[in-house]
Amino acid sequence: MKNKGKGLKNKSVLLGICGGVSAYKSIDLTRRLRDDGAAVTVVLTESALQFVTPLSLEVASQNKVYSDLYSAPMAHVSLPADADIMVVAPATAHTIGKFAHGLADDLLSLCFVAFRGPVVIAPAMNWRMYEHPVIQRNLGTLRDLGIVQVGPETGLLACGEEGIGRMADVQDIVEAARAALTEKDLARENVLVTAGPTREYLDPVRFISNRSSGKMGYALAKAALRRGARVTLISGPTTLPNPPGVRLVPVETAHEMHEAIERELPAMTVLIMAAAISDFSPAERSAQKIDKTDDLSLSFVPTPDILADLGRRTPRPFLVGFSAETGPHLERARRKLRDKNIDLIVFNDVTERDAGFDVDTNRVVLIDPDRETQLPLLDKDDVADAILDRVRELRA
Ligand SMILES: Cc1cc2nc3c(=O)[nH]c(=O)nc-3n(C[C@H](O)[C@H](O)[C@H](O)COP(=O)(O)O)c2cc1C
Repeated sequence: MKNKGKGLKNKSVLLGICGGVSAYKSIDLTRRLRDDGAAVTVVLTESALQFVTPLSLEVASQNKVYSDLYSAPMAHVSLPADADIMVVAPATAHTIGKFAHGLADDLLSLCFVAFRGPVVIAPAMNWRMYEHPVIQRNLGTLRDLGIVQVGPETGLLACGEEGIGRMADVQDIVEAARAALTEKDLARENVLVTAGPTREYLDPVRFISNRSSGKMGYALAKAALRRGARVTLISGPTTLPNPPGVRLVPVETAHEMHEAIERELPAMTVLIMAAAISDFSPAERSAQKIDKTDDLSLSFVPTPDILADLGRRTPRPFLVGFSAETGPHLERARRKLRDKNIDLIVFNDVTERDAGFDVDTNRVVLIDPDRETQLPLLDKDDVADAILDRVRELRA
């Protein structure tokens, strides 16, 4: 299995859809799996036909859709043989029960017992059904067999009640499938990632911040998790959803970021500083909102340089820094690596339109004491995997 690139790129997904209200979300799921580079073959249960049409899924998957066992006589053997992964979303109480007991009376349940590979299920049902001991026992049986369960979530259910039973977010199901296809080559690592901007307050309502969106740090946290690491993410304010499975520590100011790093550090083997921590904070923070004036001068004091401080410590985790520069100033990144005594620095020129702040792509140079590697323009997920590949090589 390869780690490079996205876990789903060029992979074949067998997507089972059962007869639940959330079946309509699986049309979107089909699209998202394809967006990530997978080929998708859909198998609908007979009940699922009551909720979605084969035509919608044929269009979404750009592929033939299967449902009836007897009109495609060998599909229950050929579909699993051709698949890299099986995803069942929504997984109904009924189908979960059949899987747990090896009952194989329709195309989907036959595919399940004929398949050898990773299986991800996304249960969805009313909360009373979900909490029933027999459903919990069946799900436990499946988890014990190595089947990955994603969700369900708590919230408003289709029946109008609040409770646990909503199908996991489509994006979280895609992420679970990617993780299931990724080799766990970082299983021994405890990775701490910092991400996002910090806010330095002038008064209770105003602050100085920067353009960091947190996307690079979140991509690193998700990639490390996918590769088997235990991951803690210390994040400044962003609009990004919490990555499931990652321990999130929210902070706001550079001071809070520093405190959180110190607290988390002792258990860590790798620290990746992707946050854009403010280098300066206002010398004074007014307790009251500063009045409107014609002229306002502010003075700033530098915040502690945490990377330089960590570089001087022994023992210390493997240290990865970022050097966001406004221009091709590679020399500055090389100097940071040397002066701060860190292990790997990721240089990027944030003035490039398709790289750096608030975009989904990045063009970086990886610099360590032995080597410089210029990577092409890549998706931030792929940049994250390339950084982690290098961390792994350097720690081998
Ligand atoms: C309107 C409606 C909504 C349903 N939603 C769900 C659901 O969300 N989860 C579930 O487990 N069963 C749900 N069911 C029950 C299943 O459709 C039923 O158990 C069926 O036998 C499932 O078959 P399958 O697992 O082969 O798809 C629903 C039934 C109806 C009539």
